[in-house]
Amino acid sequence: MRIISGIQPTNVPTLGNYIGAMKNFVKIQNEFEDVDLLVFVADLHSITVERDRAELKKNIKTLAALYLAIGLDPAKCHLFIQSEVPEHTELSYVLECNAYIGEMERMIQFKEKSAKEGASVRTGLLTYPILMAADILLYDADKVPVGEDQKQHLEITKVIAERFNNKYGDTFTIPEPYILKSGARIMSLQDPLKKMSKSDPNQKGYITLLDNIDEAKNKIRRAVTDSIGVVKYDQENQPAVTNLINIYSNLTGESIESIEKKYEGLGYKEFKEDLANIVGDELTKIQTKYNEIIKSDILNKVLDEGRDYAHYLAVKKIRKVHKRVGLGRE
Ligand code: AMP
Ligand code: TRP
Repeated sequence: MRIISGIQPTNVPTLGNYIGAMKNFVKIQNEFEDVDLLVFVADLHSITVERDRAELKKNIKTLAALYLAIGLDPAKCHLFIQSEVPEHTELSYVLECNAYIGEMERMIQFKEKSAKEGASVRTGLLTYPILMAADILLYDADKVPVGEDQKQHLEITKVIAERFNNKYGDTFTIPEPYILKSGARIMSLQDPLKKMSKSDPNQKGYITLLDNIDEAKNKIRRAVTDSIGVVKYDQENQPAVTNLINIYSNLTGESIESIEKKYEGLGYKEFKEDLANIVGDELTKIQTKYNEIIKSDILNKVLDEGRDYAHYLAVKKIRKVHKRVGLGRE
């Protein structure tokens, strides 16, 4: 079975990215049998909006190092940078010719992001889901671990793959999203109705994996709650506390019921203090490894191997696609 996923190198990944996606990559690596796992840095995806060049370069390296720091093991998976495997954009173009503009305009993420961009919405923002489809179909991935917000992009990937297969004959494996129920949508610490995002202008709303430990703990201590005062998982009436319970449960592996029980009769202060320590400990672990990796030269070796492996698979696929469509000489 082949599994693939990627994350955009915009800013440093948040606790939301970690719980919703990255932690699952490690789980898959360690618990699935016979899995060929590819994880990449989706740098091409991040230039659909204006980016500072130096910042982008830095973020690419940071994300790659974080993949290793959270426990992805280059002996068990392949890590690479999307733009270093040119077949992603090659396949993307062919798929663009099999996808309709209306389909792209319906994407929630496009609607949200283009509303923010005003008059300067780039074409790449519209075609973004097609590049994502190419990332997945190029490798015949069976499963794609992502957070809830990527579900619609996975659905359109399936539509495009099925359409292509029907038209040109069986070419692509139809992928399935792999979204875990809990943790798939971690919310802002300041507004439990908004997802935690690394592009949130309010920095108190998110914690990044490289945040200063004390600051990160303070963000948990100061996270909004409610006036009910009971540690209870209740999405409707206590969304902020529910989000914190979710983070707690995902980082410790403790069940929601057991967490509710533990804090029965206690206020939010104690609960938040414990969670602050849990988050602090997790970040410390990640940052200690991260600092070792960034100093060593392992990253380049890992990314070279990953690129070569991905490229090897991708070339075979793109040849097949060109042949199916009727491009070129042979
Ligand atoms: P992105 O930062 O948009 O490249 O997202 C990378 C991965 O993290 C994707 O699988 C997203 O679905 C996931 N993700 C992003 N934000 C959150 C969040 N707040 N909660 C859970 N998963 C998230
Ligand atoms: N679009 C995804 C996001 O913003 C990142 C991504 C790009 C991705 N290509 C992918 C995820 C392929 C899974 C598979 O989160």
